[in-house]
Amino acid sequence: MATFLCLFFFLFSFATACDRCVHQSKAAFFSKAAALSSGACGYGSLAIGFNGGQLAAAVPSIYKDGAGCGACFQIRCKNTTLCSSAGTKVIITDLNRNNQTDFVLSSRAFMAMANKGMGQDILKRGIVDVEYKRVPCEYKNQNLAVRVEESSQKANYLAIKILYQGGQTEIVAIDVAQVGSANWGFMSRNYGAVWDTSRVPAGPLQFRFVVTSGYDGKYVWAQKVLPADWKAGVTYDSGIQISDIAQEGCSPCDGSIWK
Ligand SMILES: *[C@@H]1O[C@H](CO)[C@@H](O)[C@H](O)[C@H]1NC(C)=O
Ligand SMILES: *[C@@H]1O[C@H](CO)[C@@H](O)[C@H](O)[C@H]1NC(C)=O
Repeated sequence: MATFLCLFFFLFSFATACDRCVHQSKAAFFSKAAALSSGACGYGSLAIGFNGGQLAAAVPSIYKDGAGCGACFQIRCKNTTLCSSAGTKVIITDLNRNNQTDFVLSSRAFMAMANKGMGQDILKRGIVDVEYKRVPCEYKNQNLAVRVEESSQKANYLAIKILYQGGQTEIVAIDVAQVGSANWGFMSRNYGAVWDTSRVPAGPLQFRFVVTSGYDGKYVWAQKVLPADWKAGVTYDSGIQISDIAQEGCSPCDGSIWK
């Protein structure tokens, strides 16, 4: 598949979030497995296949109205008897509306923070003190993918879900056009990782993503993604990977002991 990266840097005035700074909070876990496939990001049952099922619901400041969907965090519990110092890596698939903890983890992710043989002990705690920081998501052999949602209707409505967004990035805008056309139309974030438009170009479709990581934003152009006969329920390879990592200056957090 033909791909082309259009690098176009421009200034964003995003406040410096310093995502990769270490934050202190608490984490709990979902006692019902079903909670994982009903996450606010809209990944549905696909979520269970992400990151070995190590998933998390995050508070609104991390969820960011859906822009935080698919972001990865390293998280460790602070009790060194109970937990390993490396902790584990989770991917955001849901919004946590409970203000007692920054994260609610899948039980698999919660147990993965524990030292060997202490998985049941950490579950018994139910809630633990944690430290966390944002880390890049890595999809080595997996390109960014676009899943056409079931609500899509040829010619009138197109809803897509973004999957396998690597690096430490946010997609803040998506444009769509017929392949070969410069007549771009914008899509809107419907919810979570789902974007839509009711002005659907005919023919095969290309997409242009505005991706930010830290201060920088750039266009990433996926030249040919959907065939003319695109179908709802099908996932299409974008032919590109996003792997940018925030370069923002994070002093004084750069001096953190947790590298
Ligand atoms: C740490 O975890 C161990 C094992 O569960 C427990 O015995 C101990 O009380 C915990 N320490 C603190 C400070 O919570
Ligand atoms: C947390 O949520 C509870 C219940 O929804 C609410 O009563 C409380 O004021 C909240 N606390 C903070 C710090 O927002």
